[in-house]
Amino acid sequence: MTNENTAVTKRAGYLCALSDLEATGAYGVEREGAAFGTIVVRFDAGARAYVNRCPHIGTPLELFAHNFLDETRQQLVCVTHGARFNVDDGVCTSGPCIADKLRALEIDVQGGEVFLAPAQLKE
Ligand code: FES
Repeated sequence: MTNENTAVTKRAGYLCALSDLEATGAYGVEREGAAFGTIVVRFDAGARAYVNRCPHIGTPLELFAHNFLDETRQQLVCVTHGARFNVDDGVCTSGPCIADKLRALEIDVQGGEVFLAPAQLKE
């Protein structure tokens, strides 16, 4: 007998479950073969995903695991020099790379789980 949940979580491009976003509002994922990590962040009833690489000098945004958001959970914050990015579009609204943006990744949310869109798997 096949466990359907197990089959879904092993699908290519699996990033995390929406429930993984509850504690901090965001979740960091390291993907095998990817040069940079992925940030999955809660947005409305779904999520957004970005490459975990600050456009200022290219560092990951977080210091502690899964801690990407400010106290309001409305902006992602880079701990290196304090740049702040909108959750919905990744645009930097303050800091040294203002108006630059995090690289967005297409995702699919199915059954409460977040996957990279198939086109993103080719990169
Ligand atoms: S590396 Fe992110 S603000 Fe400088």
